[in-house]
Amino acid sequence: MALERTLSIIKPDAVAKNVIGEIYTRFEKAGLKVVASKMKQLSRAEAEGFYAVHRERPFFNALVEFMISGPVMIQVLQGENAMQKNRDLMGATNPKEAAAGTIRADFADSIDANAVHGSDSVENAAIEIAYFFPATDVYAR
Ligand code: PPS
Repeated sequence: MALERTLSIIKPDAVAKNVIGEIYTRFEKAGLKVVASKMKQLSRAEAEGFYAVHRERPFFNALVEFMISGPVMIQVLQGENAMQKNRDLMGATNPKEAAAGTIRADFADSIDANAVHGSDSVENAAIEIAYFFPATDVYAR
């Protein structure tokens, strides 16, 4: 199995609910290590740049507004199959469709405010990690 890194964001709704620790516990219990982390208030330009691939989608403006509505917690997770493992922990994009016990089933209120982001491919993970963290801020553990 491959040792991978993936980007995770705890979104403003989950930060406001004070469940950062509960979500980190899920990462750690699944064998994922936090190898970089920071809390950050995204600017509009940063959020638009991060989601640029979705620029033409109808929800783009709502997604950007939501992502700048409060601070987010951004982390790099490392572990065996980290990208897919994190996606499995997150659950479906729409919390109504998310499997029981997933982060979105437990902490998300709606498809607009769905608690967490996770890279959707190993290739995108590398791009997303570099978007937020210089290589020197990601630690081998
Ligand atoms: S995913 O998770 O990337 O496969 O999902 P996708 O459907 O491609 O959605 C891309 C991101 O847009 C968010 N999204 C929405 N935001 C607001 N309103 C609606 N209706 C909506 N539908 C999807 C979704 O949560 C994805 O954001 P991230 O941050 O990647 O989870």
